[in-house]
Amino acid sequence: MSAPDDPEVTLLPSGKQFVSHAHSSVLESGLSAGIALPYRCSNGSCGECRARVVNGEVEQIRFHDYTVTAAEKNAGVLLLCSHRALTPLEIEVSEATVAEDIPQQQLNTRICHTETLGNTLVVRLKILRGKALWYLAGQYARITVPGCTPQLLPVATCPCEAGYLECHLSTTQSDLCNAIMSLKKRERIVVEGPQGSFTVDDATLHGFHHVFITTDEHFAAVKPMIEHIIATEVEPRCTLLWVASNHYKNNLCRSWADAFDWFTYQALANTKAVSSELSTLHKGSPSPLKVYVSAATEARNQLEQQLLSCGINDCVIDTTEHQVSRPNNR
Ligand code: FES
Repeated sequence: MSAPDDPEVTLLPSGKQFVSHAHSSVLESGLSAGIALPYRCSNGSCGECRARVVNGEVEQIRFHDYTVTAAEKNAGVLLLCSHRALTPLEIEVSEATVAEDIPQQQLNTRICHTETLGNTLVVRLKILRGKALWYLAGQYARITVPGCTPQLLPVATCPCEAGYLECHLSTTQSDLCNAIMSLKKRERIVVEGPQGSFTVDDATLHGFHHVFITTDEHFAAVKPMIEHIIATEVEPRCTLLWVASNHYKNNLCRSWADAFDWFTYQALANTKAVSSELSTLHKGSPSPLKVYVSAATEARNQLEQQLLSCGINDCVIDTTEHQVSRPNNR
């Protein structure tokens, strides 16, 4: 929640704006506003969040190991993770707007929580040494668990949750689930990424009705996209159609629908049920539809056919090769 006198930050050259909260670094405020600012540690050691203040005043709020030279300081260069805004700011910074803007990273993590929800295992990982993964909502990471083949999985956390990653696994992936459940307390899981280009283009948030269609644990790819849209506070009309036998995050989806009048949610039992929802939306929505699909291969093919027959062609299809799929029996 922003206070009335929290200063506004304007990013150059994009012109994006967000409110910088009094007790947060500029980086934290930007990430929680859904802005893909560059960073890799959030604790002043990597230098990735360097930016140049063009106008305004800041205050250093934490010591940082990374050295900003005297010449850079004179030019207004600082670390966004280590400063807060005292006045409205204009900052020159390289934001990520497309997947290609983000370099590959490798991080060590440790499991901090697991939860079995029906036949889905939700795994929460803590990134070690105060680091963070820089990625866009909807992207994937390769997870290497000792004794198991590396798996490419959607990162189910919003990028605004620096320092933590969540994965959703079908318990039919028994090798991986067993390997995770039998890990010793201090054993590490290596995470590499990000990968894939199934992301939300912020420039299209206004003016479209965004429809997310997903199946089973592919929900992990669309969850952060919806959380990202919530963080931007743009409030475009959004609909989530989730096809599954186990809507393991049903309460979360319902809580979004209860909290935001621009968001609607349908829990569906099979892909055939998507068709009538789509044609109702297509005919009834005052804005053109932009549809995002993340689903198992067979379901994805069926959904693409349905989109074609409804005459909907503005679609973002998740084609990242990953292993969350259950055998498709719908
Ligand atoms: S120094 Fe690493 S994110 Fe700021």
